Amino acid sequence: MSDNWDERYPPLAKVPVHVGIIMDGNGRWARQQGKPRLAGHRAGVENIRRVLTAAARMGIKILTIYAFSTENWDRPAAEVTGLMNLIAQALRREVSELHKNGVRLRHIGHLERVSRQLRRGVLDAIELTKDNDRLTLNVAFDYGGRAEVVHAVQQIIEAGIPAEDVTEETISQYLYTAGQPDPDLIIRTAGELRVSNFMLWQGAYAEYYAVPVFWPDFDENELYKALAAFSQRDRRYGRLTDSEYA
Ligand code: IPE
Ligand code: IPE
Ligand code: MG
Repeated sequence: MSDNWDERYPPLAKVPVHVGIIMDGNGRWARQQGKPRLAGHRAGVENIRRVLTAAARMGIKILTIYAFSTENWDRPAAEVTGLMNLIAQALRREVSELHKNGVRLRHIGHLERVSRQLRRGVLDAIELTKDNDRLTLNVAFDYGGRAEVVHAVQQIIEAGIPAEDVTEETISQYLYTAGQPDPDLIIRTAGELRVSNFMLWQGAYAEYYAVPVFWPDFDENELYKALAAFSQRDRRYGRLTDSEYA
């Protein structure tokens, strides 16, 4: 493509396979512009396409986006309904384009509490895109890291697995992300330094990156900066190299 992409974003020494994003700051973005919160959520949903496209071009294979937490149900009803409608609209509007671009859509979280129509839309989109392999997009929706671990433990017990056979791998296999590598990098927009119940188990050795930019303003340039920071990190996993010990 003749858009100077490679000049603006030169290849990095190390690109994360799996990136998680805590998409925060839609409300503050709207307030800053004197708009209602829902306008911020609309801009936030729009922004997913831009970041997803950039992520694919930068070589990320799995992108997990935190769209709605188990705690977000406790927000005012109008906000919850507004968010559900925006997500349902986006799904209807984008799914064929995602499919054309080789994106495999997955959902992590529960679907019991969402409308039957939205649930149907999500399940149909997962089925339609299941054989795509350019990039996997995990949408964390009605997702909570603690609820996910509880769900895994329940499934393990139901499967009759003896206690002594339960290992870290067993737990991983019963999470919503079963079969996927853990996130290498978790990005949080809007500056808060907290995890807010996102990928508690899988994030054990993720590199964290927080940026003050509100989610609707987080563009390909910001993604590249996060990846560049990641490529400089020294991941140690608790170990020491021989030269560090010498
Ligand atoms: C993130 O934006 C979207 C969701 C949590 C659903 P917020 O709505 O949390 O925006 P702020 O944090 O209030 O600015
Ligand atoms: C985290 O953002 C959840 C999502 C981005 C979906 P929140 O805005 O809900 O988190 P807190 O309340 O600041 O911890
Ligand atoms: Mg927030």
